[in-house]
Amino acid sequence: MRILSSELKVKMNRQKRDRTLTINPAFLQEIKDSNLTLWKTVERLNAACREPREPKVVLGLLVPLLGELREALALEFALEESYGYIEVPSAAAPVNHHLLQDIHSQHCRLFLRITELAERAEEMQFRGMLSEELPALVNEVGAFELEFKDHERMEADLIRCSSPLGPGAGRTDTTKGTRF
Ligand SMILES: [Fe+2]
Repeated sequence: MRILSSELKVKMNRQKRDRTLTINPAFLQEIKDSNLTLWKTVERLNAACREPREPKVVLGLLVPLLGELREALALEFALEESYGYIEVPSAAAPVNHHLLQDIHSQHCRLFLRITELAERAEEMQFRGMLSEELPALVNEVGAFELEFKDHERMEADLIRCSSPLGPGAGRTDTTKGTRF
């Protein structure tokens, strides 16, 4: 039984190695176009960081907005990983599969980062904010938004390059317009 179990593990590992990620460009674009809450939250967060207000007011805005952004990103990444990214046999790997794997792995890092920022804002509010901590938090929120914007731009490029009509096919650029 133990031998069978080991053989099964080896087989499963081999099958896993023999598969790689690609994207379904139509689904990935559809997910991005549908999650309007995410983009509205990012816009409101931008405004909260940019507009001059009393520090206490700024923190009072950041706490719920960072929590909302964490929830919106959890939904976005879960949908993208369930329907936008798909596994295919390695023999059918796209030429850019290493880049694709790297972009996919950014989801985890981005989600851990927004969770950390949201928890820090809550903690600052709970224990009474120290005035020197808020500028650092605002700067880090700005840096996070830029990192997320880069991620979206890379996925937009993936979608464009993976479209059946090829690069340049009609699409919505999620990194332009009112977003960010
Ligand atoms: Fe993504």
